[in-house]
Amino acid sequence: MKIAVLGTGRVGGILGGRWAKAGHAVTFGSRDPACPKVRDWLAKLETPLPVTSHVEAARGADVVLLAVPWQCVQEVLAELDDLTGQTIIDCINPLTADFRGLDVGHSTSAAEQIAEWVPGANVVKAFNSVSAATMANPLYGEQQATLFYCGDSPDAKSQVRQLVTELDFEPVDAGPLRIARYIEPLAMLYIHLAVFERWGGNCAFKIVKR
Ligand SMILES: NC(=O)c1ccc[n+]([C@@H]2O[C@H](COP(=O)([O-])OP(=O)(O)OC[C@H]3O[C@@H](n4cnc5c(N)ncnc54)[C@H](OP(=O)(O)O)[C@@H]3O)[C@@H](O)[C@H]2O)c1
Repeated sequence: MKIAVLGTGRVGGILGGRWAKAGHAVTFGSRDPACPKVRDWLAKLETPLPVTSHVEAARGADVVLLAVPWQCVQEVLAELDDLTGQTIIDCINPLTADFRGLDVGHSTSAAEQIAEWVPGANVVKAFNSVSAATMANPLYGEQQATLFYCGDSPDAKSQVRQLVTELDFEPVDAGPLRIARYIEPLAMLYIHLAVFERWGGNCAFKIVKR
């Protein structure tokens, strides 16, 4: 797949790097592709990958990963060409500035808000309930970390399921996009445990069944 990763931070680097290793054509989008901070960041990736503007990266991509902070998502989306028919992976947690709560939630979600900002695109919520450390390696002994995802387009969800599976997660289709209003608070529980209860990022949710 042709994948645009918008944001050259921790999440973008890990997921973009791993998808490139799995054989996908990954391009990063940055606010300032030529700046020394981004060049140094690129040099640390295992495989050299292209970086360009947000608009260039997203143009013609099958899948666009939004790996930027919640506070700037609307602005980043407003820069892009029409995304009709493209799949957007929303891994964003709409955190308040102190990381202790959610800016939106319960009766809506960041994912539903993003879908309103890009009508025509197929938004899939995924990767928000796992840490960057788990994105780098989802295997806990014999067990795979569970990755909940949701969305309204079956085709977009099947693309995302493939991308999740290729990275060694256990994918769980949680249903339509409105279920993001429950996956986002689940991630808040994770952040509370990892940060404020000091568990750290090397833990993950696992669903068990019988
Ligand atoms: N870190 C985690 O463990 C984790 C886990 C699950 C979900 N998430 C979600 O993933 C997203 C990215 O997290 P991260 O940890 O990778 O964040 P990060 O390391 O802070 O990086 C985000 C990147 O977004 C871009 N950015 C920053 N401010 C911006 C602005 N005002 N306008 C446009 N772009 C801006 C920057 O890239 P450029 O300088 O190249 O533009 C930056 O490197 C967040 O929404 C977060 O909630 C994170």
